[in-house]
Amino acid sequence: MNILSIETSCDETAISIMKVSGGTKKPSFSILANNVSSQIDIHKEFGGVFPTVAKREHTKAIFPLFLKTLKEAKLTPSASSHSPLKRGRLGGSLDTKVCKKIREICSHEQELAESLIEILPTIKKPKIEYIAVTTGPGLEPALWVGINFAKAIALAFDIPLIPTNHMEGHVLSSLFKEKKVAKGFGVQTLNKVSFPALAVLISGGHTELVIMRDFLKYKKIGQTRDDAIGEAFDKVARILDIPYPGGPEISKLAKEHRKSGLHDQIHFPRPMIHSQDFDFSFSGLKTAVLYYSQKVDKTKDEVKKSIARAFEDAATDVIVHKTYKAVVKYKITTVVVGGGVAANTHIKEKLTEKLKPLKTNILFPRKDLSTDNALMIGIAGYFQSLKNKKGANLNKVRANGNWSL
Ligand code: KG4
Ligand code: ZN
Repeated sequence: MNILSIETSCDETAISIMKVSGGTKKPSFSILANNVSSQIDIHKEFGGVFPTVAKREHTKAIFPLFLKTLKEAKLTPSASSHSPLKRGRLGGSLDTKVCKKIREICSHEQELAESLIEILPTIKKPKIEYIAVTTGPGLEPALWVGINFAKAIALAFDIPLIPTNHMEGHVLSSLFKEKKVAKGFGVQTLNKVSFPALAVLISGGHTELVIMRDFLKYKKIGQTRDDAIGEAFDKVARILDIPYPGGPEISKLAKEHRKSGLHDQIHFPRPMIHSQDFDFSFSGLKTAVLYYSQKVDKTKDEVKKSIARAFEDAATDVIVHKTYKAVVKYKITTVVVGGGVAANTHIKEKLTEKLKPLKTNILFPRKDLSTDNALMIGIAGYFQSLKNKKGANLNKVRANGNWSL
């Protein structure tokens, strides 16, 4: 079956269409189209993601990106031919009731509603069985753009809508194999997972440990009590006058410091490392970096590098220690690391080294799939559709920050 997936939880507008089969036991897929429109350059100016700016940019990007994706997937005659799009099954105009409903759904995105009403009737109903959309967790104003858009097209084309969890997407994105995940690459399968597995979710918005007894069976055992680890990377970057998103740059500076053979001169705290639970805290670590940086000349390259290294070492120690403890306690056989911070090579090396004696299988996402993308939402949506065949009642679909599966 074909599944269209939409992701707008933060600063990437992402849409993909995949052909999926095999269920959770033998999932396989081929990518018919996969597109991302990133807002990072816009948010750089503000030093972080501003929800209202994110909403505005998603609203501008989403419909053109959808049309492009549909055209690339060649699922409708009009989408496969070059412009102009032909008049299709929906006829010359939408039913007035449908128009009214689209205006209601997109009442906060009026321009988008009017473009949908004008252009949708010119597109033939695509061969898509489900529409999966990220409903949370994420930035609410950003999430709503994707949700409202998905509801509107689900209504116009009469395709069931599957509300999909962003964190479940990050878990599954680590299962895409190391080989190139590209459009037209043919049928691909996911990496095998033996259960119980532990998902280590480290992103700009989350730091969580989740036990997976099977696909679709998740239990969160720990989370951050304040800042997420990626947020801490970004805040430390801001302290050092490094533009958003700071994670990759902090990591680069830390690496340079280690390579230079210099010893770590600074020791930052490892908050909650010895707490009995599986929770985290990164706000105190960020504050320690702030206080330290006020006492030194942080404009000097060498100072920046040593701070970046000491911070990355402290954050890594906490993640590695708590993951190890959970693996032992819950007799975990596979660790799946997901989220933007999973791209961090130091964390990857240290975690792999620590888990080696336990012979635990450990999976990291491909670099291009560690940050937000629509393929992960496509697979998560597919799995959800297996237990929610009819899709959701459109009137009840809303932004939902919970991750309580
Ligand atoms: O998963 P993601 O794209 O968005 C959220 O759902 O939050 O993660 C983005 C986060 C940002 O905080 C970014 O700084 C961080 O991932 N990040 C990294 C690295 N690459 C991205 N943090 C540390 N090291 C990296 N190499
Ligand atoms: Zn994410």
